[in-house]
Amino acid sequence: MIPESFIQELLSRVDIVAVVERYITLKKAGANYQACCPFHSEKTPSFTVSPAKQFYHCFGCGAHGSAIGFVMQYSGLGFVEAVEELAGQLGMPVPREVTARSQEKAKQQPLTERMARAARFYKEQLKASPKAIDYLKGRGLTGEIAARYGLGYAPDDWQGLQRAFMEGDYADPALVECGLVIENEQGRRYDRFRDRIMFPIQDARGNVIGFGGRVLGQGEPKYLNSPETPLFRKGEELYGLPQARKAIQQQDMVLVVEGYMDVVGLAQSGVENVVATLGTAATGINIQRLIRLADRVVFCFDRDAAGDRAARRAMEVSLEYLVDGKSVEFLTMDGDQDPDEFVREHGRDAFLQQTRNAARLSDFLVRKLIQESNPRTAEGRAKLVSEAKPLLRKISASVLRVQISKEIARHAQLSQAELEAQCGLRPLARSRFAVPPSQRGRPAPNSLEHTLLLTVLRRPERAARLPADLIPRDSAEGEALCAIAAAVEHADLPCNNLGLLLEHFRGSPHEEVIARLTPRIGTEADDEGEHEALFGDAVERLRQRDLRRRIDALNDKARTGTLSAQERRCLSELLARKRA
Ligand code: UTP
Ligand code: MN
Repeated sequence: MIPESFIQELLSRVDIVAVVERYITLKKAGANYQACCPFHSEKTPSFTVSPAKQFYHCFGCGAHGSAIGFVMQYSGLGFVEAVEELAGQLGMPVPREVTARSQEKAKQQPLTERMARAARFYKEQLKASPKAIDYLKGRGLTGEIAARYGLGYAPDDWQGLQRAFMEGDYADPALVECGLVIENEQGRRYDRFRDRIMFPIQDARGNVIGFGGRVLGQGEPKYLNSPETPLFRKGEELYGLPQARKAIQQQDMVLVVEGYMDVVGLAQSGVENVVATLGTAATGINIQRLIRLADRVVFCFDRDAAGDRAARRAMEVSLEYLVDGKSVEFLTMDGDQDPDEFVREHGRDAFLQQTRNAARLSDFLVRKLIQESNPRTAEGRAKLVSEAKPLLRKISASVLRVQISKEIARHAQLSQAELEAQCGLRPLARSRFAVPPSQRGRPAPNSLEHTLLLTVLRRPERAARLPADLIPRDSAEGEALCAIAAAVEHADLPCNNLGLLLEHFRGSPHEEVIARLTPRIGTEADDEGEHEALFGDAVERLRQRDLRRRIDALNDKARTGTLSAQERRCLSELLARKRA
């Protein structure tokens, strides 16, 4: 955990304009800066950065956030990594509330260095090995793509790495720890990878953290992979991400395939927005990362039993993490080739044509369930419902859940309410939040809470002037308002730094409603006259509403003759205030 105070310190020292300019070129436009949006493709700039609010916003695609959010979105880094990146740029050491992780990081540094050296060595060895070069050429790869993916060759030598790590260094325990070298029971050491084509696996920042090594031709195992090490967690990484990032951003779409060769082969044919999960099925961490990278995630698995299992697993995990507005799709290609074979034979355009026919998660799920049950019979329909139950319960995106339940209810010949009851789904309106997530942020458009929240987000210091005890907490807006008021009071959120406010609420229950309203504010400056008036007016209406309620309550009592003397005084005072 990084302490909140550090995030505040970081965001008050960092300048979002300078941060964004490290990645893209900005042009000054009035008080703000603008550019063509790096997160969707466009010809006229709708991406703006406000130095005053320390906030970026694209009017085209709605992308927005703080400096930290920008680095996350642009580089696909996680929150902690993005904070480290920014802090590094400012030379600020990142304090940790838990030091275990930072110790781990410090331990990783020498391993990262060994891996980089090994990758360089394998690359050089490739240049010197005609048979390895021939193998890659035979698979249709050019030197350019081989270089782009850092492909290499591990020589047919038990201690080839000795040449990369000078004599003494081959005994270095770090080589065993990072999985390059294996030590047998007699204490003799030898290279894990011998006579194999080497695919370096890089993390989101481009550090080599593992390798996959393929035999040239036939042989078992076909691929040998680095073991899990302090650097390399198979379930978390996506092969090919650094190379694919730009294309993913431009197309707002990421293709996910099974194999190293699929990634490289597709890139060779000009399909660059491709990554692979690493042998293991897609994990929650993979999916969350993919959904962050692009609005459209298309899984393209092989048409065999393993591919089917991988697709089913990816579907189940996606159900948990998919949010409304994003799309997860499943591509089943014609024929039984894997993506690499397909694109080599039929070319890029034919492959892209296939991706257009990918099934959306909802259709894919319903189709799978129907295949697995047989809804033409009563028993089959019962099976359909029982198979659907655990899946429906996983879905977090509310609109998606409704759509899928409707569809399944139809096939099961139940009403949607009956299906939801069968599956133990709480109707959305009564779920954890008073308002369904899809509608939160879009409440009755002129509700007081809505106006207040918008004007407070424009200038968070206004929260200090909110009559917090009068704000009803029965809506997400109301709750968020109270939380902002408390944060302003206790955590000293600076008056106008929207980026900081967003980071303060990252991961909190208020994050979503705030994120939904912030694009409405954009980067334009707070118009102190107009917005101040709106805010003042809403506060006044809140007071009047409260007054009316209290008067009504006392009037009711008066009618039943149970008004005490003190209450009578109170009532006349309230009436006077109302008239004032
Ligand atoms: P595939 O067998 O589909 O690999 O396995 P591929 O990429 O199409 O390889 P080529 O075209 O035959 O060269 C898919 C992925 O499963 C993992 C690897 O990550 C591979 O890319 N795998 C497969 C292994 O880890 N070990 C194996 O022995 C086989
Ligand atoms: Mn293949």
